[in-house]
Amino acid sequence: MSERKQFRAIKGTRDILPPDSALWNWFEQTAREVFESYNFGEIRLPILEEVDLFARSVGSDTDIVSKEMFTLELRAFQEIYDLRGQLTDSVESPVRFTGSLFQFLRAIDSARASDRLSRESGSAVNQLHSAYKELNERIADDRVLAEATERPETHPEIHDRIRQAEAIAMEVRFSREAAALRPEATASVCRAYIEHNMQALPGNQKLYYIGPMFRRERPQKGRYRQFYQIGAEVLGQSDAPAIDAEVLEMLLVFFNHVGLTRTTLYVNSIGDKNCRPQYVELLREELRKVKDKLKEDSQRRIETNPLRVLDSKIPEEQPIIETLPRISDHLCDDCRAHFAKLKEELNLRRIDYKENWRLVRGLDYYTRTTFEVTAEGLGSQNAVCGGGRYDGLVELLGGPPTKGIGFAIGTDRSILSIEEGGNVPKLGGLAVYIAWMGQASYPTAVNIAKKLRAAGLSVELPPEEMKFKKSLGLADKLGARYALIIGEDEVALGTFTLKRLADSDQKKFAEGELLEYLESERRR
Ligand code: HAM
Repeated sequence: MSERKQFRAIKGTRDILPPDSALWNWFEQTAREVFESYNFGEIRLPILEEVDLFARSVGSDTDIVSKEMFTLELRAFQEIYDLRGQLTDSVESPVRFTGSLFQFLRAIDSARASDRLSRESGSAVNQLHSAYKELNERIADDRVLAEATERPETHPEIHDRIRQAEAIAMEVRFSREAAALRPEATASVCRAYIEHNMQALPGNQKLYYIGPMFRRERPQKGRYRQFYQIGAEVLGQSDAPAIDAEVLEMLLVFFNHVGLTRTTLYVNSIGDKNCRPQYVELLREELRKVKDKLKEDSQRRIETNPLRVLDSKIPEEQPIIETLPRISDHLCDDCRAHFAKLKEELNLRRIDYKENWRLVRGLDYYTRTTFEVTAEGLGSQNAVCGGGRYDGLVELLGGPPTKGIGFAIGTDRSILSIEEGGNVPKLGGLAVYIAWMGQASYPTAVNIAKKLRAAGLSVELPPEEMKFKKSLGLADKLGARYALIIGEDEVALGTFTLKRLADSDQKKFAEGELLEYLESERRR
């Protein structure tokens, strides 16, 4: 006998079954109602987007893009990404770099032959071929190779060429066919804004979206590979702090509506292109001084992205991080004024918040305002919402100069927190179970079921005849509020017996009265 395979949901994905799905629907429906009261409209976006859209916006060095993205044609691109990683790792060694470049070019050429390279990358690839040819010729001379390897300063031209080639390799982009399952949707909203020329529409564009996102993270409580977000974005010409404050107000009104009240809002300003680069440099210098006291990840980030060191949760690093310079002391006048006004606006709206100078977020597109909301009952994955300002992102993606701000709520975690807090609302459920017996009562049962459903009640009609006792037992197990008893007596008299299952109270009704009674009960 062959053993049958048991299929299971893929790691990090899961099914949302009833009655949980009712809670999810209510959560999402409440968001729609609250957001629409702030004049936001829904945007439905594709789940697949070009890989490059996220590389450019979220940032190709972020974990989300470099490690966690699900791409189609994964194997082909993974190989290219790995080879590109090898290039970066071998910049110190001319012979290893030239070897890695050879392999990288081979993979790139085959991608180009099958039309998987973006057209704009053509010139980068040509430049890489010339760099390879040149390097290969230079290191063919054993003496030059030995010198350049042992004493790099004797052949700066070789090392400069290597660094230049590595930078060009980073610019190679893949074509439309390289699709990714979206890891987030802010980039998609900006793409859509540009594609549909939305800057020509009157006023700010206020958009919300609801749907699944995908990140290949290590699954744990509150962290999945397919998870769900409810996001909102405001795009337009104004960066008034009142917009930031209104977005935050809307978020908290929503959390309040769904009973997610044991939350904390953290806010920060991370400056803009005028003041952040200087701060990052200062931070880098200070971090270099304490490098030995930091762990490997943070040590690496000193060079790649020093701001991310502030995100570290490693206990031993905390006292060191606390002594580092803070962005709030290094904001330019405009950013400082923007942040001060935001706090005023929050106070005006009686919004409680805490300032957190270490809130830098893991996506590259933020400027000025950043924020996060944490909730109780979730352990380490306690952020239920993250967001911030991203002025300039639309421009970076090829659109007109545009300001933007928004957030995304993690639905999975929010619902977990609501459940852990025991604040689950009683939703819908089965109103009427029709306990019919005897073939003569069946047509009456079918008819009344249709009428009760038309009146908006949830009705269960057993498809086959059952003994009364069994039928009523099932009604109880299904959690029905009422059993409607239709036997041959009832049909003969033209009445219905309605039994309230909570207390077994029974009443007899004619059809018209029955409908009226159940409708009034529903409204109670
Ligand atoms: P994010 O902080 O990456 O921001 O994600 C927002 C929220 O999504 C998180 O706070 C968390 O609740 C939820 N989330 C993220 N990853 C997972 C996961 N693997 N499993 C379960 N939940 C998760 C963004 O995505 C930005 N697009 C937010 C934004 C909108 N910024 C401006 N506009």
